[in-house]
Amino acid sequence: MDSTIRNKAIRVMKANDRGGFTVPTANLYPYQWNWDSAFAAFGFATFDRDRAWRELEVLFEGQWANGMLPSIIFRQNDPDYFPGPTVWQTGTEPPTTGHSQPPVAASVAWRLVETGGEADLARAQSLFSGLYAYHRWFHDVRDPDGTGLAAITHPWESGRDNCPDWDGGLNGVRVPDDLEPYERRDLTHVDSSQRPTKAQYDRYLSIVKFGRDCGWNHEVIYHDGPFLVGDPGVQFILIRASKDLRALANRLGRATEENALSAWIERAEDGSQYLWNESVGGFCARDLRTGHFSDAVTSASMLAFYADVGTSAQFDRLVANGKRILDRVEFGFPSWDPDHDRFEPQRYWRGPVWSVMNYMIAEGLAEQGETEMAARLRSDTQRLTDETGFFEYFNPLTGEGYGGGTFTWTAAIRLLLSTDVSTSRAA
Ligand code: DGY
Repeated sequence: MDSTIRNKAIRVMKANDRGGFTVPTANLYPYQWNWDSAFAAFGFATFDRDRAWRELEVLFEGQWANGMLPSIIFRQNDPDYFPGPTVWQTGTEPPTTGHSQPPVAASVAWRLVETGGEADLARAQSLFSGLYAYHRWFHDVRDPDGTGLAAITHPWESGRDNCPDWDGGLNGVRVPDDLEPYERRDLTHVDSSQRPTKAQYDRYLSIVKFGRDCGWNHEVIYHDGPFLVGDPGVQFILIRASKDLRALANRLGRATEENALSAWIERAEDGSQYLWNESVGGFCARDLRTGHFSDAVTSASMLAFYADVGTSAQFDRLVANGKRILDRVEFGFPSWDPDHDRFEPQRYWRGPVWSVMNYMIAEGLAEQGETEMAARLRSDTQRLTDETGFFEYFNPLTGEGYGGGTFTWTAAIRLLLSTDVSTSRAA
């Protein structure tokens, strides 16, 4: 890797380091975010293993007693961000949001163990019960009927906030008359054409209000909440992370947990079929109350390879869709199908490219032998950062960078694409 780019990437990560945890980017996201932190740990692993583990350990300080790892840990009240701790009112210490995010942490921990030594195994051992409790929460609380599908209860839990995947589910969310007036802070940092709309924000906050009003009782939220959707992103990331956690359980000699994980994985692989949309030729988001399908291939659909879920006929259709989509863009992989009329190349998750999705998709494609497409995605990701900068997301047609300009996970992925994690292993 060009040492200038490497040094720049490391500088971005260090500038966003708040001492034990890393913010996604200053101002726009001034707290610790769950999957951002997991990817930050992954990036740190390329040059500072101790700091990588620290990131995960500090993240788990925010874990709830029921096992949930929240999407954001609010370590101080920062007026730069809305909605902060006073809106969520979870009553936890530290204050957090009341819902989760794609569970990448176990995959990062396993990779550190796989490429590491005794010291890594010891750190993983201490983290194991937290990781396991987090997965159990997803499998039990988000799938109480054992269908094999872990639901999300808010678009923010997908990490793909304003993707058209959620348009159908959000249409069913009623904005209550007593929704408190609010002032968005994101638009003071980023142009409104690159962010979710006001109509979407009203609904995001209505769902938060429901959770707050029921005291963040997740049983109530699952059964009676305004939004309940199956997300191929969370589903496939959870399955992959459960497989990685099972490998870790095996290494640590935790047979009971290993067996429980195997049972969950088997159920989740079967349950994923509910998300297969034959008319699209991909796994799509699906409203769990109405059965309504989203109707386009997204970057999350492409994570089927990463989870190793799907029949060979399904993989063939996904590969064909992947090729068609990549032919349409300069930089893959767009977060929404460019041939679909809701495609917006600059608006957050309605078209732009995100490095972390590319990283996971490419890993999965390479593992399934789709090496050419994997190489294309890795090279597109590198080109985007090297030519444009460490932006939060990028226009798939032009490469223009948007959102935060010095983004932790974009730097982390750039490091991972050219540095083997095992190089940071202690001699
Ligand atoms: C935001 O504020 O945009 C976050 O993505 C919510 O988690």
